[in-house]
Amino acid sequence: MPLSNMAHRDIETVIHPYTNLARHREVGPLILNEGRGIYLYDDTGKRYFEGLAGLWCTALGYGNEEIVEAAAKAMRKVSFTHAFSGKSHDGVIELSEKLKEIAPCPASKVLFGTSGSEANDMQIKLSWYYNNARGKPKKKKIISRVRAYHGVTIASASLTGLPWIHTDFDLPIANVLHTSCPHHYRFGKDGETEEQFSARMAQDLEDLIAREGADTIAAFIAEPVMGAGGVLMPPKGYFEKINIILAKHDIRFIADEVICGFGRTGNWFGTTTLGMKPQSISMAKAITSAYFPMSALTIEEDLYQAMLEESRKLGTFGHGFTYTAHPVGCAVALKTIEIYQREKVMEHAAKVANPFQTRLRKLAEHPLVGEARGVGHIGAIELVADKATKRQFDPKKQVGATAIGILQEHGVILRNVQDSICFCPPLVITTDEVHEMFDLVERGLDAVEAWARKENLRAA
Ligand SMILES: Cc1ncc(COP(=O)(O)O)c(C=O)c1O
Repeated sequence: MPLSNMAHRDIETVIHPYTNLARHREVGPLILNEGRGIYLYDDTGKRYFEGLAGLWCTALGYGNEEIVEAAAKAMRKVSFTHAFSGKSHDGVIELSEKLKEIAPCPASKVLFGTSGSEANDMQIKLSWYYNNARGKPKKKKIISRVRAYHGVTIASASLTGLPWIHTDFDLPIANVLHTSCPHHYRFGKDGETEEQFSARMAQDLEDLIAREGADTIAAFIAEPVMGAGGVLMPPKGYFEKINIILAKHDIRFIADEVICGFGRTGNWFGTTTLGMKPQSISMAKAITSAYFPMSALTIEEDLYQAMLEESRKLGTFGHGFTYTAHPVGCAVALKTIEIYQREKVMEHAAKVANPFQTRLRKLAEHPLVGEARGVGHIGAIELVADKATKRQFDPKKQVGATAIGILQEHGVILRNVQDSICFCPPLVITTDEVHEMFDLVERGLDAVEAWARKENLRAA
């Protein structure tokens, strides 16, 4: 099909993140101008099922008038106030109280940003600041994990454990280390149980800490479920072991709840679902159901005391963004959380998670699917060239990306991470809609299989 005028204008003006910019010049954009509930509409009027909640974020779906009203009201009242030099407003006070109340770890205070990357960036800065304040200037390294996703600023991209985020950007920065990826299907040895694999992953972390010296390690950061690395589930018993190691070595545990927070895994926070014991959590995305860019992190009492001392010594807490605690963001987050609580969205999501996970797991029977995995309302299927041997497709064939294109033609928008296809629908999805989505996906996967056979990709 020839590209539209708008598509040409896009190609000549817009840089698209996570896009093959050369290929984009040929295929052009998918222009989505409208959203209602769990559906999106392109510029020709074609309807798409929203299978990834935007980018893992639109938990309440599109077109929620109550949130729109809350934003408009906040803008009319005072379009901007900031939090510098002790300035405040009702919204940030109420939201901080609410987040402290629902946080899955003891929280003394809350600090705001506008993106998940910023929240994790602040986590690193504060881990360093903390250890300087408490007289441990050597204790600065941060441990993340291979295949983790923590963002794209210079520091948070360094935490991210995906090669395409580092290559030719001269990343990661010094003092960021990556321990093994705990994905049992891909990295478990033949005959190794999940529990044995967890023990080996924990030993890898212990070995890394021993090699570097615990007195040089400030923090460890982990997502409850590794989302943008391909929805990788921690193996059984993994976080129980990690909790113990971190506590033993006085290493600050940061849970990156940017995707898992606010109901995604069946509880308010993934930390609860997966048994993590962090000192602090990073939040973003569903904190506002993506109606406004906002992120936050909790500050534990020890860290707060250290920050107080530094302020006394240096005269100020030398950090802050113009949009820290933006009043519109605070109003939108408060309204979003009010709706989660009032409409019992977590309870609804927990119920619908059953048919969601059942249909997801059933995809494992498809000849293309090596593993179907997930929890709550998040999941993925991993496409393989050979189910028996788990042999992967040649990465140059871009099977995952092609599959996403074919699924899109079938009317469902999902996201691939290499050859894993990720699912993360809005939490308000109903059981009927779950079936509708997976019916589309099954038909789409058959078309992907037909394409793969035609291209001889299934042959050894
Ligand atoms: C777990 C996690 N942390 C951090 C980020 C970065 O958030 P942002 O894109 O808002 O900077 C993401 C984004 O997908 C994420 O999934």
